[in-house]
Amino acid sequence: MENGILQKRKAFIGVYGCQMNLSDAERMEGQLGTLGYERTDDMTEADLILLNTCCVRETAEDKVYGKIGEIKHIKRRNPALIFGVTGCMAQKEGEALLRRAPHIDFVLGTNKVHELKAVVEELASKRRRRIVDVFLGDAPLPEDVPIERTGRLSAWVPIMYGCNNFCTYCIVPYVRGREHSRLPEDVVREVEEAAAQGFKEITLLGQNVNSYGKDHRCASFAELLRMVDEVKGIERVRYMTSHPKDLSDDVIAAVKNGRHICPHFHLPVQHGSDRVLKAMNRVYRKEPYRALIERIRAAVPEASLTTDLIVGFPGETEEDFSELLDFLREIRYDAAYTFLYSKRSGTPAATMAGQVADAVKKERLHRLMKVQNEISLAKNEALLGTVQEVLAEGPSRTDESVWTGRTGTNKIVLWQKQGNETEGDVVRVRITQPQTWVLKGELQ
Ligand code: SAH
Ligand code: SF4
Ligand code: F3S
Repeated sequence: MENGILQKRKAFIGVYGCQMNLSDAERMEGQLGTLGYERTDDMTEADLILLNTCCVRETAEDKVYGKIGEIKHIKRRNPALIFGVTGCMAQKEGEALLRRAPHIDFVLGTNKVHELKAVVEELASKRRRRIVDVFLGDAPLPEDVPIERTGRLSAWVPIMYGCNNFCTYCIVPYVRGREHSRLPEDVVREVEEAAAQGFKEITLLGQNVNSYGKDHRCASFAELLRMVDEVKGIERVRYMTSHPKDLSDDVIAAVKNGRHICPHFHLPVQHGSDRVLKAMNRVYRKEPYRALIERIRAAVPEASLTTDLIVGFPGETEEDFSELLDFLREIRYDAAYTFLYSKRSGTPAATMAGQVADAVKKERLHRLMKVQNEISLAKNEALLGTVQEVLAEGPSRTDESVWTGRTGTNKIVLWQKQGNETEGDVVRVRITQPQTWVLKGELQ
């Protein structure tokens, strides 16, 4: 202990779930910064612990409950610790979390990110002992929230909050509320600020970015993409997630004609059987999806294509599943994020007939991954000998001398560092060893 020297207060922030949660956490860390907290990665030395949680699948919730259990012991040793749970699970569970874990001091919902500062001040001053605020309301988050970005090259920029789609398996619309788009000028200002701070890449975030602007009608998503593409200093513009139901030809044109918009389309199809798509309330069917992919490939031939897939949705038969495998073989995605269907109470699918047994789900997932991995490898092998432009991110996790970065198509590239390249450079790498998940190569 350094006697006499004012110790800075420390905050541990655990983030689960999607990029939207990462972005919210940056806005919460920004507020904690104004209160004098600095980040720590060690929960045991923290004065404040925040878990920004996810509940999209049961496994995500289990992880959080495990962490909440761990924190009980830390809190016992340090009763002054302030412990809060925020994010989607906080929104879903509310008060119930306190009953399950009385060592939690506050629970803040997804639409209360901006209230964190006031809540922590209240608790630190001991004016209140416990706070629960999960009122979802129907308003977008305020604009004036300070942001402490965690990345150094890549910045997350939310463009819309919430989801109106109600896919029958999904909890997100219930815990994130209705769609609200930020004004284009607010988005552009945030991108300009990130560029001024040295960020090279931005990812525009929303549950369904193609619905951007349908509420305020100030700009469509394609128009927003073009505005952001103009911001000086930004080398790469990415976005996620695109719902296939309303990806417009104008967005495809914006990507095709853009200067910095990455040729990568993440278009979650979820399934390859029309019967299952209908039961999922995914709105589109295989045929129009196929036609959309054709339009994308005709306009932007170099584009990569990725997807999300759910295996074991209620009622999925062996025949549906083999249709899904056939669809994968037909579309040939560069990569797929594959999930076992997880029952979320309160969603329509949770009470549908024909819930698939765990063992069957797992066996199907295994087969699915085998098919997709072969395709991913073949697609990467086709890049052997090509020279890729890679945004250098820095040393890889396992070896300081091996550097990592990503192509515009979002593929991870590894190469032996030569000496001159620095983080944020766009370097040229010749691909010499393509693998399923990464491309290994030599700096040109
Ligand atoms: N808004 C995005 C997805 C957000 S959730 C979109 O529509 O594409 C990310 C992924 O989690 C989804 O694409 C889906 O594949 C998966 N997912 C959502 N709910 C799920 C559930 N109950 N069980 C399994 N996977 C789920
Ligand atoms: Fe969930 Fe569907 Fe909304 Fe995506 S579009 S968040 S899968 S309800
Ligand atoms: Fe999870 Fe919420 Fe994102 S449920 S996936 S953190 S929107």
